[in-house]
Amino acid sequence: MFTYHQPVMVAEVVQYLITDPNGFYVDATVGDGGHAKAILEKTSPQAIVVGIDRDREAIETASQVLADFGSRVKLVQGSFSTIAEILNQVNVEGIDGILFDLGVSSRQLDVPERGFSFSQDGPLDMRMDRTQKMNACQVVNTFTEKELADIFFYYGEEHKSRKIARSIVLARQKKSITTTSELEKIIWNCNPGRRGGIHPATRVFMALRIYINHELDELPKALESVLQFLKEGARMVVLSYHSLEDRVVKNFLRTHDQLEVINRKPMTPSRQEIQVNPRARSARMRVAQKMIREEGTLI
Ligand SMILES: C[S@@+](CC[C@H](N)C(=O)[O-])C[C@H]1O[C@@H](n2cnc3c(N)ncnc32)[C@H](O)[C@@H]1O
Repeated sequence: MFTYHQPVMVAEVVQYLITDPNGFYVDATVGDGGHAKAILEKTSPQAIVVGIDRDREAIETASQVLADFGSRVKLVQGSFSTIAEILNQVNVEGIDGILFDLGVSSRQLDVPERGFSFSQDGPLDMRMDRTQKMNACQVVNTFTEKELADIFFYYGEEHKSRKIARSIVLARQKKSITTTSELEKIIWNCNPGRRGGIHPATRVFMALRIYINHELDELPKALESVLQFLKEGARMVVLSYHSLEDRVVKNFLRTHDQLEVINRKPMTPSRQEIQVNPRARSARMRVAQKMIREEGTLI
């Protein structure tokens, strides 16, 4: 049983992304197709959306959600870091806008078998692309104490990273750690109590997910390689959900002068949206536009 992912800041995404109602758009993280549907609804029957996701189940769901749009939608399973190959495959030369809605979908989080969450018990997995070899179980049971501590510290900004890594190594000497609730209990026992309403396993689970899915490597590769496809005036909209990925986006925009930053300060969801969809609360939206060439200048 799953519920569809509730897309975040939909009104803002379509407002800032769509510059040409007949344009060609890419949803690089199509998920359950919520944003893609909104883009298709706000554009003309000539507009096309290519939806990409590395999760086969997301592509299957999106194809059902977007079925009514027929040939206006092309869905591709793949990592967005390979966006150049994907766009070449579908014979695209220029795009009018691209959306990245980073991280995991509610569906991935809510299906216990995917092993992303400790709120329901499931196998320790956390792979967005289930054909990938490395999963969370292997990392937790085979990586050294130092490697684990580094992952928790670097990707989760977890201050108790060493203590948690030590507890994991001690626990796995007795029995392999194979489920999300086993890992959650180990972390809770070495760091009991919620701080600011946050469960002590939250950062470790996020860190493992980012590491296993190479999230911080994927993003700069994708941003870099999509630049060549952006038409003049085309928009890039990025929704990120934690400071590490927002920093990658901010630095990328700052260092690429073909892009004009539309909003210096990231936009955030309204209080009303957060009330209805609490998972939106950490969203930060950055928008940039490919510079329009003036006569006689090179970009
Ligand atoms: C927050 S969800 C997107 C939800 C979507 N906007 C919607 O309206 O349903 C993020 C999605 O991005 C996908 N994803 C994350 N990293 C990816 C990558 N490097 N390449 C392709 N897809 C990725 C995940 O599998 C997930 O389905």
